[in-house]
Amino acid sequence: MADLVQQILDLKKRKNAVILAHYYQEGEIQDLADVTGDSLKLARAATQVDADIIVFCGVHFMAETAKMLNPAKKVLLPDLQAGCSLAESCPANKLDRYQQMLRENGRKFQTVTYINSTAAVKALSDWVVTSGNAEDIIKRVPEGMEILFVPDRHLGQYLEEATGRKMILWNGSCMVHEIFSVGDLLAMKKRYPHGVTVAHPECPANIREHSEFVGGTEAMIRHVGSFKEPTDFLVATEANMMWQLQSKFPQHRYHPVPGISCACNKCPHMALNTLEKLRDCLVNEAPEIEWQPDFETARGVLERSLLK
Ligand code: 13P
Ligand code: SF4
Repeated sequence: MADLVQQILDLKKRKNAVILAHYYQEGEIQDLADVTGDSLKLARAATQVDADIIVFCGVHFMAETAKMLNPAKKVLLPDLQAGCSLAESCPANKLDRYQQMLRENGRKFQTVTYINSTAAVKALSDWVVTSGNAEDIIKRVPEGMEILFVPDRHLGQYLEEATGRKMILWNGSCMVHEIFSVGDLLAMKKRYPHGVTVAHPECPANIREHSEFVGGTEAMIRHVGSFKEPTDFLVATEANMMWQLQSKFPQHRYHPVPGISCACNKCPHMALNTLEKLRDCLVNEAPEIEWQPDFETARGVLERSLLK
């Protein structure tokens, strides 16, 4: 492994590449990254890259976003199959048909789209949000307009509660955050009566309502960091976040809330990226995110939503 890490570091230097890694990547990948972050931080970081190559250790929609925001760079994704159940749940042709149906019924709405979506879906949207900026963006939708929120129905429901804006919700969900077991969470809360439960807003209402803190990935890190005394945190989000929390705030104890069918809580899409594939993509300068016709329109939506 030490050899593999050295190869990656040498290749990164030789090819003038920068590695951006999401907090849901394995710790050994995050350790090698120039920038680690949630999807908002990484999208913004991508715009600042001067190097020739961006290696995006994350999932496909994140690498696509980096390409749209910095088109002159070669953007590599170690495994092109690293998708997302949310992005899959909302095909652009289905969204297009649904929007047309709403318009034919005289509905006046803006489409607010979670960044976990394809470029083609972003191109059909008025706004793109991440878990980090969604509430601010929703304030920018004129009061007289309805909001069609796609594709995460749990995040949408959370935002309805947080902003008081009623939304038309698409029926998508994250395969990792949807399956936390409320029974196990309640048992853990009994075991750690002074524990603090933190949950990502992609979790369903039955988990959110038993959580002391609900917030996007970066907000969750800030919240945990605000505790000075050693604390037990019950964590309802992707398992690799524990690595990030542990390395930033080692004084606390972290207890993953188990899923109902799988106790590991790891995103199988994120897990497709490995150190070997990271090395190989630097060697081959592939797989690469190629520019697509939809990117131009989607880029405008992304810039107005994430950079202004
Ligand atoms: P963040 O926007 O918090 O990085 O989350 C991305 C994601 O895929 C959550 O499942
Ligand atoms: Fe998509 Fe869920 Fe994986 Fe995030 S954790 S990339 S929302 S499948």
